[in-house]
Formats: sequence, structure tokens, C-alpha cells
Amino acid sequence: MSENTRTSDHPTSSDRPTTVLITGANKGLGRETARRLGALGWRVFLGARDEIRGREAAEALAADGADVTFVPLDVSSDDSVAAALATIGEATDRLDVLINNAGITGELVGPMDELITPESTLPQHLFPVLDVNVLGPLRVTRASLPLLRAAEDPRVVMVSSGAGSLTHATDPSAAVAQRAHLLYPTSKAALNMLTVQYANGIPDIRFNLADPGFTDTDLNHHQGTQTVSEGTDAIIELATASPGPTRQYRDRSGVVPW
Ligand SMILES: NC(=O)c1ccc[n+]([C@@H]2O[C@H](COP(=O)([O-])OP(=O)(O)OC[C@H]3O[C@@H](n4cnc5c(N)ncnc54)[C@H](OP(=O)(O)O)[C@@H]3O)[C@@H](O)[C@H]2O)c1
Repeated sequence: MSENTRTSDHPTSSDRPTTVLITGANKGLGRETARRLGALGWRVFLGARDEIRGREAAEALAADGADVTFVPLDVSSDDSVAAALATIGEATDRLDVLINNAGITGELVGPMDELITPESTLPQHLFPVLDVNVLGPLRVTRASLPLLRAAEDPRVVMVSSGAGSLTHATDPSAAVAQRAHLLYPTSKAALNMLTVQYANGIPDIRFNLADPGFTDTDLNHHQGTQTVSEGTDAIIELATASPGPTRQYRDRSGVVPW
């Protein structure tokens, strides 16, 4: 019997659920993404840095019938990322989709949680934001490459933000140009370029960026005006499109200007 012969013991990829790893999926947009993809019948690896929060989220989604497995994953730690991908590699022979969702703003600093200004921003304020928002996706993407390459149509969705758009930041009429934060927009602009360079350099894997839009989550102290369902529309669209695009920067309405 040839290796490619279809049997019930050795199902082809079309018989198997689509597999996805989502970082920072214990709450907010990551959790809603896990819920929506789980509802589609996908096999979800729910990454979270905190054991209790991650298990609670995975168990709640699994109780609703989704195939969700908690994976301890701190994107700022090389060791944690390596351990997470080793765990996933024991459970599956491939990863169809990676969603780099974990993110922080870093805007509150000091013992009094002060709102940081451009004048008060120091290198040590920017480093942790870059560590999670830029180096995190780099760590997780690099460690995921072998499992992604085992999939038929591997794709990576980077969760960016409209705050990473240079077009918006330099448009005097745009909301993001009305306020200045040196940390979060800088990190998301860097993530955008990182993603474009991945797309250019690794053409056998599709790399795209989702801008969720201003969404009601802990990230913005629940000031966001969209629901998490609306905020995950672009992530879901890019994750599920197969075949689909590469090197796109999209929100739920369409293409976002760089
Ligand atoms: N909400 C918006 O309006 C909006 C708009 C544009 C873009 N985004 C982007 O959407 C993504 C999700 O944001 P959200 O709004 O859902 O925020 P959120 O509710 O604050 O969730 C952020 C998630 O990232 C996790 N995280 C933080 N640092 C981590 C680390 N070192 N390792 C692993 N996970 C880590 C958090 O885990 P803990 O619970 O352990 O802290 C949490 O699960 C972010 O990349 C954000 O920049 C959000």
C-alpha cells in the first residue's frame, strides 16, 4: 500500500480538523478567536502565559463542545515558546494556522500606574512592549515553522493594530494622529514590517496582518466601541481563507493603508 493511500487509520489532511495555535488566548480577542474557530470544528491550541487563566479558558470553551487544549506559553520567554511547541508537536504532526495575538500597550508605568507621555518615555519602557509585541511573534513563528511546513496551506496571522499604520499616524484627520504614544504604535509598526519581511522571505507560508479595530477588552480598559465578535472578524477572515492572500494588512472592512 502506498504511503498516500487513504485508510481510516491514516486519514488524509482533508479528513482531519484544521489545527491552530493562538497566543494570549485566555481572554479578550484571543479567547473569542479560540471560541469562533472551535465552533467551526477546528482543533485549537490555546496559548496563555498563566496556568490558571489558560486552563479556565480552555475548559470553558471545551465545555461548550470545542476541541481546545491549553498550552502554557509566555511569548517573552524562549524556553516557554520551545516547550509549548514541543508539547504541540507531541499532539499533532502539523499546524495549519498560527495566530500571534498576545499583546500589551505598556502605556501605564511606575508604582502609581501613570500614563506615559512621549517626554517621559525611556528605553526601558519600550523594551518590554517590543519583547511581547514584536519579539514574541518572532519567537513563536520561528519555533512553529517545522509544524507549519507540514501543513498543506500554512498561514500566520499577526494581530496588529491600526495604530501601526504610518499612513494613519501621519494623517492629521485620523484619530490616532491626535494622540502620541511612543510604545504601542512603534511596536505594531515594527510588527507590520516584520510580517512583510516574513512574507517576502518565506513564500511557502502565508503571512498576513489583522487590525481588530477599537474593541472592548482589558487592553484599553474597556473603552473600545466594538464587541469582541466584531474585533475578531478580520482575524477569522485571514485565518480561514484557504486558499487566501499573503502580505495583506486588513481590518473587518477591508485593506488598511500601510
Ligand atoms: N482591543 C483593541 O481595541 C485592539 C485593537 C487593535 C489591536 N489589538 C491587539 O489585539 C491583541 C489582543 O488584544 P486584546 O484587546 O484582546 O487584549 P487583552 O484582553 O489585554 O488580551 C491580551 C492577551 O495577551 C496576553 N499576553 C500578554 N503578555 C503576554 C506574554 N508575555 N505571553 C503570552 N501572552 C501574553 C494576555 O495574557 P494575561 O491575561 O496573562 O495578561 C492576554 O491573554 C493584541 O495584540 C492587541 O495589540 C487590540
